[in-house]
Amino acid sequence: MSSEAPRTQPSVAVAITGASGALYATRTLAALLERGHQVELVVSDYGRRLLRDELGETASVDRLVPFLVDRYGPGVKAGQMTLHSNRDLGATLASGSHSCCGLVIVPCSMKTLAGVAHGLSRNLVERAADVMLKERRPLVIVPRETPMSLMQLKNMVLCAEAGATVLPAMPAFYQQPRTLDDLADFIAGKILGALGIQHELYPVWTGRVTQGG
Ligand SMILES: Cc1cc2nc3c(=O)[nH]c(=O)nc-3n(C[C@H](O)[C@H](O)[C@H](O)COP(=O)(O)O)c2cc1C
Repeated sequence: MSSEAPRTQPSVAVAITGASGALYATRTLAALLERGHQVELVVSDYGRRLLRDELGETASVDRLVPFLVDRYGPGVKAGQMTLHSNRDLGATLASGSHSCCGLVIVPCSMKTLAGVAHGLSRNLVERAADVMLKERRPLVIVPRETPMSLMQLKNMVLCAEAGATVLPAMPAFYQQPRTLDDLADFIAGKILGALGIQHELYPVWTGRVTQGG
């Protein structure tokens, strides 16, 4: 993970915030890197805690690349990942002039959802989301909370009305998942699809459940 990776193609931005579902974030990162993408990563303070709490110390932000290689295989080395501080509002992602082709916030806390819905730009995650909306670029929000309050539902509506794809962390079961990774593959596949990136992370629905997954 470098602080300034050389770029040959527009980057894809990934933000991790403090809602449950760290595995969705790591699978999404791995899927993008396996496909050779330049990934710009921002992790909120509670996102950092989430990675450690749910996946262990080896998944801490400063050890994330070795964690991804260990969990998903050496294919993740095909891409490059750059880490930005969530406090750095002067980072590339804060400007519409920067060639970033989309942002996914996975998982997205209700706090960050509210900040995006109301255009607060208090940190780099919120500012990068604001940039995606104003530039009419893909913004994928993966909220996780249950049940949801009226204000949380309304914040999702505001984001959807502004052009974001609201993609709740709701994996399907028609593909007969056997492991947590199968569930994470489904959400990561949905995210890549929403970003316009081809994938085979889950089987397409063929009209009937396939026995044996
Ligand atoms: C272990 C843990 C799990 C949490 N899970 C959720 C969650 O699923 N959804 C949510 O909206 N907030 C959750 N929170 C609360 C957020 O982390 C908290 O509101 C935080 O301020 C979010 O900040 P951020 O959006 O900058 O990461 C959780 C907090 C902790 C410590």
